[in-house]
Amino acid sequence: MNTIEIVPGLVLDDEMLDAATAGLAEHAPEVPALTRDQLLDPLRWWRVPGPDDDDAGVPLACKDEFVVFRSDDLTIKIMRWLGPDLRKGETSQPHTHAWRVMEAHPLLHGYVDDHWYRTATGVVVHQGSTINLAGDVNRIFDLDYHEVIEVVEPGRTLSLVICGPRVLDAQGRGKWGHLDLDTGCHVPIQRNSDEHQRFRQRLYRINPQHAAA
Ligand SMILES: [Fe+2]
Repeated sequence: MNTIEIVPGLVLDDEMLDAATAGLAEHAPEVPALTRDQLLDPLRWWRVPGPDDDDAGVPLACKDEFVVFRSDDLTIKIMRWLGPDLRKGETSQPHTHAWRVMEAHPLLHGYVDDHWYRTATGVVVHQGSTINLAGDVNRIFDLDYHEVIEVVEPGRTLSLVICGPRVLDAQGRGKWGHLDLDTGCHVPIQRNSDEHQRFRQRLYRINPQHAAA
C-alpha cells in the first residue's frame, strides 16, 4: 500500500486517508470536507510525546493529532493511536476530559478502554472495558473517567473525536484530571511550570514542522 511519511514517525497510507475523509464527512458534515492535501500538511499535525524516550533519547510519541476545528463550543480532531494510555508497569490512572461531552468515533481498527464513573453519593464505580470499533460511538461525559488499555493496530488505528463545550477552571484553562484509584479522589491536572517546560521541550523536539514559540 502507498504510504506517506508526513514528519518522522508519522506515517499514513491510502486506507487511513480515505477513512479520515469519509469519517469526517459522515460524522461531522457541518464542517468543510477535508482534502487529502490538507491531511498531508505537516503543519496541521502534532505528535504527542509520551513519557518514554527511544534509545537515542528522542521522545516517543504516544499518539498523533490533527485538529480539524477548535472553538470553545466545538472541538474536532483526528487521532492516530500508537499505543494505550496505560503502558507496561505503569499505575492505572483513568482521566477525565475537559469537554462537557466527548464522542469518539473509531474510523479504522479500534481500541479497548476501561470506564469508571462516580455515583451521586460519590462512590467510584468501575464499569469495565469496552472495545470500540468502526460504527461504535464512545461517548464520555466530563465527570467520567476512562483509560485506553489496548490499541487494535498501533499506528494504523484512527478515531474522530468530536467534543462539545470546553469545561474550564477558574483561570480559564481546560479542566483535566485523573482518578486516584487508591483513594478514590479526583486529582486536578498539575500545572507545575518545570513540568510544563519539560513537556514543551519534548513536544517541539518531535514536531520539527512547528517552530517553538
Ligand atoms: Fe481520553
